[in-house]
Amino acid sequence: MKSIVELIEAKRDGKEHADEEIRHLIDVYVSGEMPDYQMAAWLMAAFLRGLSSVETAALTRAMAESGRMVDLSSVPGVILDKHSTGGVGDKTTLVLAPLVASCGVPVAKMSGRGLGHTGGTLDKLESIPGFSVTIEESALVQQLLDIGVVVTAQSADVDPADKKMYALRDVTGTVRSIPLIVGSIISKKVAGGADAIVLDVKVGSGAFMKTEDEARALAHELQRVGELLGRTVQCVMTDMSQPLGLAVGNSVEVCEAIRTLKGEGPADLTELCLALGAKMLVLGAVATSERDARTMLLDSIAEGRALATFSAWVAAQGGDADVAENPDLLPLAEFAAVLTAPRSGYVVGFDAEGVGRSAMLLGAGRETKESPIDLGAGLVLEAKIGDTVVEGQPLATLYASDEGLFEAAKARLLESIVIGDDEPEAPVLFHEV
Ligand code: URA
Repeated sequence: MKSIVELIEAKRDGKEHADEEIRHLIDVYVSGEMPDYQMAAWLMAAFLRGLSSVETAALTRAMAESGRMVDLSSVPGVILDKHSTGGVGDKTTLVLAPLVASCGVPVAKMSGRGLGHTGGTLDKLESIPGFSVTIEESALVQQLLDIGVVVTAQSADVDPADKKMYALRDVTGTVRSIPLIVGSIISKKVAGGADAIVLDVKVGSGAFMKTEDEARALAHELQRVGELLGRTVQCVMTDMSQPLGLAVGNSVEVCEAIRTLKGEGPADLTELCLALGAKMLVLGAVATSERDARTMLLDSIAEGRALATFSAWVAAQGGDADVAENPDLLPLAEFAAVLTAPRSGYVVGFDAEGVGRSAMLLGAGRETKESPIDLGAGLVLEAKIGDTVVEGQPLATLYASDEGLFEAAKARLLESIVIGDDEPEAPVLFHEV
């Protein structure tokens, strides 16, 4: 076997690794024999030189097998997971997980925390008083059998390779690499025990993949490697040229998710949940067509079953289930400020990443994994692409625990909302399936 330095040099020079070389790299890194600086050098070499399809599959398999594999085989039916490549205002899991479970398909999901301008489901869930995202495997299986939905943090012994590598990629400029993203996402899903996965690949200003071509290449590779590792995978490319829904933050997003489960959510979020949910019901074999599945989802919302499943899920994970009926129980930062339109016209576009950065400036996000987060901070937009606004009209309400944070956050938000004279074309929510 080549030494670690030789493996780094080989990748630096654009050579292809054998399967066992990749497994060796992952094994020695996870065991602590390979220091972060060597893995950082290899990651940058892989970022710049790329990995072949065969190498990407070997990397994914080695990462998935770097720790314990969750065993959900005692739960009957097809276990579904859903993953988004990350965006701004993306609270889809909070709606989809109970909605799909209420229609009879078990959903088990390991989620992540917010990093950079994108939010994380775990932080959002933790804004519900009492909600716990750490669950023992036996309790997890029981909850899945009882309620059909469980969302947890990745435990330390499941896919430890991804945990270490993701943290390193985040601070070494090596996140936006297709093979590394595929390894990270698919290894987690394989180790997490789901049988089938619906992947929402975001494209646009708020996503890692800014162009359709990049997003399409990522989607194809995710599907190919997922299937190679024995999972059923469906990818959908969806719009992230503006935030999803109106709320960006943590508790404000939970509040919007609850409204959506009651059938009162924003149109784009509702539509995305129905479309992804329909795919999950077909994959979960409780519906034969997406059209029938959609009807089942709409019925569940209308009959209150989706919201009841949300409440049962929150209670099972120790949270205050009364938030479903009384969202005022969620934390909200003490101070509010309104950003008004500097001129009249149409909202013609967003820098969605800038909106996420503005929410971070309010305290809703974290710069590094260790940064503290204010679960009650965030912002709620009052206009989206295509809406007309009049000078002085509110564009957004911002929430923070320190009034001193508003100036910079408002400035960043204002820069991120483009107002023009001509009516823009409506953004396409689904780019490709
Ligand atoms: N989400 C992940 O889980 N991993 C990545 O590398 C990028 C997005």
